[in-house]
Amino acid sequence: MLESNPLSGLSRESNVAPVKSIRTLSATTPFEYNLLTHSNFESWFEQKLFGYRQVLRNPLVEITNPQKLTSFERAALITAITRANMVIYRCRTPERVNQESILSLAAQLGLTRLDLDTTTNNQGLAELADQHIVTEKPSIPFSSAALNWHTDGYYYPTDQAIRSFLLHCERRADSGGCNLLIDHTVIYGLLRRRDPSLVTALTHPNAMTIPAHRSEQGTVIRPACAGPVFFATKDGALAMRYTSRQRHIQWQKSELVRTALDQLREVLAQASDLVLQHTLEAGEGIICHNILHARSAFTDVTPHSRLLYRARFRNPISGGVAALPTSLLPAA
Ligand SMILES: [Fe+2]
Repeated sequence: MLESNPLSGLSRESNVAPVKSIRTLSATTPFEYNLLTHSNFESWFEQKLFGYRQVLRNPLVEITNPQKLTSFERAALITAITRANMVIYRCRTPERVNQESILSLAAQLGLTRLDLDTTTNNQGLAELADQHIVTEKPSIPFSSAALNWHTDGYYYPTDQAIRSFLLHCERRADSGGCNLLIDHTVIYGLLRRRDPSLVTALTHPNAMTIPAHRSEQGTVIRPACAGPVFFATKDGALAMRYTSRQRHIQWQKSELVRTALDQLREVLAQASDLVLQHTLEAGEGIICHNILHARSAFTDVTPHSRLLYRARFRNPISGGVAALPTSLLPAA
């Protein structure tokens, strides 16, 4: 179900420096803007956008039995993931789907290295629902509030990155709860098209630092973690660590990073035609390579509130990795 601008209330006015000044800023960096690379990039990116838009027009794959994918269903899932790093599936009999079959579906796509943390249940799934918890530091994923753009596990170092996740809808909300999805590779391309120095700035190993997460007693639950926004994975794909939150995050203090962030926010705000907006119905789910995503706020009226199961994985989707040309990837 499509909704118009569900995150429009979250957009922030961006104060963006003109691209001309970015080139000036980057003149002192080792990066050389060269026409050959630019030409390679444009042909790759045009092809990428062509395949991506095909998925946006038809993102749904119907599944009869998630515990036993047919070869046709699996091929359709993998084709979409290769083109867009994401796909939406729809189980024909939602009432037969349980937590076991969700994990079985994931396993048939090679997704077995579950990320377990304090939010996961004994099956390894997190149950995303409004838990009506009132604390000083509310966890937004477990509330009915809107979630702004982010990738999952942005607080992890790159060698522990969340490569993939699956979201399965058990029950939708009475209203709202729309998922917004955009392939981070598309955002990388749009930024790079503006100026390669923007993505170069965001590949710095100290571009984004998440301070240590401490308990109320001051015990360190998770140490501080610095890392790049964009980075290349061992299998030649592009990955992204990003959150648009304003608190508990330290960006590298450089004019180039500040400019790149402003441009990133602007690109996201202007890329609505490349955002897939979908409100998951019961039995539907998203499988993706940890793309950028957001969620609109939702309202539950009926006693059975919105419930999504989330599984996060440290490995990519088998057969679904679209490696980028080496020349277009951030340096390892
Ligand atoms: Fe998320």
